[in-house]
Amino acid sequence: MKARYWLYEVKGFAPLVRELGGRKVGVFYVTTPIYYPNDKPHIGHAYTTIMADVLARWHRLKGDEVFFLTGTDEHGLKLQREAEKRGLDPKRFVDEMSEVFKRYWSLLDISYDRFIRTTDEDHVETVKKALMKIYSKGLIYRGTYRGLYCVSCEKFYSEGEYIEENGKKLCPIHRKELENLEEETYFLKLSAYEDYVKELLTKDIVYPRSYAKEVLSKISREGLRDLSITRPRNRVYWGIEAPWDPQHTVYVWIDALLNYISALSYGSDESRIAKFWPAVHHIIGKDILWFHTAIWFALLAMLDLPPPRKVIIHAFITLRGLKMGKSAGNIVSIDELVARYGGADPVRYLLMRFSSLEKDVEFSTEQLDNAFNSELADTFGNLVRRAGVLVLKKLGGSVEGGPEMVDTELSSRVRESVERVFRAMDEFRFSEALIAIFDIYREANAYLNKTEPWRLEDPRKPLYNVLECIRIATTLLYPFMPKTSMVVAKSLGFEIEGIERLSVGDWHRYNVSEAPILFKKIR
Ligand code: ME8
Ligand code: MG
Repeated sequence: MKARYWLYEVKGFAPLVRELGGRKVGVFYVTTPIYYPNDKPHIGHAYTTIMADVLARWHRLKGDEVFFLTGTDEHGLKLQREAEKRGLDPKRFVDEMSEVFKRYWSLLDISYDRFIRTTDEDHVETVKKALMKIYSKGLIYRGTYRGLYCVSCEKFYSEGEYIEENGKKLCPIHRKELENLEEETYFLKLSAYEDYVKELLTKDIVYPRSYAKEVLSKISREGLRDLSITRPRNRVYWGIEAPWDPQHTVYVWIDALLNYISALSYGSDESRIAKFWPAVHHIIGKDILWFHTAIWFALLAMLDLPPPRKVIIHAFITLRGLKMGKSAGNIVSIDELVARYGGADPVRYLLMRFSSLEKDVEFSTEQLDNAFNSELADTFGNLVRRAGVLVLKKLGGSVEGGPEMVDTELSSRVRESVERVFRAMDEFRFSEALIAIFDIYREANAYLNKTEPWRLEDPRKPLYNVLECIRIATTLLYPFMPKTSMVVAKSLGFEIEGIERLSVGDWHRYNVSEAPILFKKIR
């Protein structure tokens, strides 16, 4: 197989930037993993989902047409066992749990366009259609599988991949004993796509690139082996029936990956695939890198689809050095953080502020408290409060301005920071984007201290400039802290209207109605 598809100017696919009403409008499709709803989500899941939401909101702010997909991965042995353990019918169990996920995402202001469930009828149909297409190409064959399985990962581990401790073979991620399996199965001919996948791994798809090297070296060591993609129904009944053999159910990972195209009506409405697929950005944790590269790239090629435009991978949130997760029992709950910091926005801010694609981040309440107090309460909250009070007291709430009122030195510093934000967002460096945004608030604080408008008879110029800084920074902050940004805009009397007017001097008139206290410090 040759890599035919890594260029996006593929026939039949829409260009990424289109003209709409005389304006250039981009298309952006962003996905999160679909999570296993065997338990409620924790801050690890929130981390990925908030990242995706920030990107979705950022692109909407830019005027792009956005499709943001998240959901739940509801089939397979893990869910089957969890339901059995609770004495529930699996469907009833996942019905309840998917609602729990939706409630948490609404608590965190996640602005998804669709919440997909792998038990949704349209998804089940897509999986069957897609697999039948691959089956009829002769890329699926019958065989026997022997191997060691981790139910928490829903994955077979080969020698060299698992850990050996006291003669036991353990999953490297969950540190649970692997299960020995031998059974009839159907295999997918991934091996035919080895060269194709390797070539794609050298292109600009996997981000950061270090993760592509990891996958490449695994393929160089072991080759790209054919993948067992069905389970005997009598062992795993909770899954989609293999369309060519009712005695088998589809392996949960194949079922799950296909969600990204079933949400675009693959196989039934060509136009949505044509429009959004070339713009897809998958955001995932590094635990599921292999599935979203080697397996997914090959599977897409079998379906005559181009690879994803970008797979953005982040590292783990750890607690006491271990990946935070149910299996390790080291979970910090979403409720706990929302309660501690008084709402979703500070949690969104703090998780993104310490996010990292390459490095694991150790969860630390002390670090979060410090950032909450010094950055959110002191730098941002105090600035808004001070500026609001001054404009109300000294100017009765209204300030007018324009290019003639601009402090040019301040303005050029702001421009530099705005450019840094754009660069950081283009590279998915959310922490750097926030630092650059907060540099604008810091500049404004310093400028306020320097110009001392409270001493001036006519403080219009400095106060106008400070409000401009607040407006610009708060517009950029909107994707991270949507509610807070709206409160600031409403109180100070400006609108968050996109990315077109982000220079000092662009806004004409402020009508300050309130000087809000945004955050209460933690002591
Ligand atoms: O793997 N740190 O679902 P899952 C950072 N259903 N991210 C974390 C995290 C942590 N400690 N814990 C979880 C599955 N995550 C499959 C996905 S997609 C077609 C199918 C996040 O419930 C991170 O995004 O185990 C990770 O990749 C994902 O949750 C795994 O969620
Ligand atoms: Mg997992």
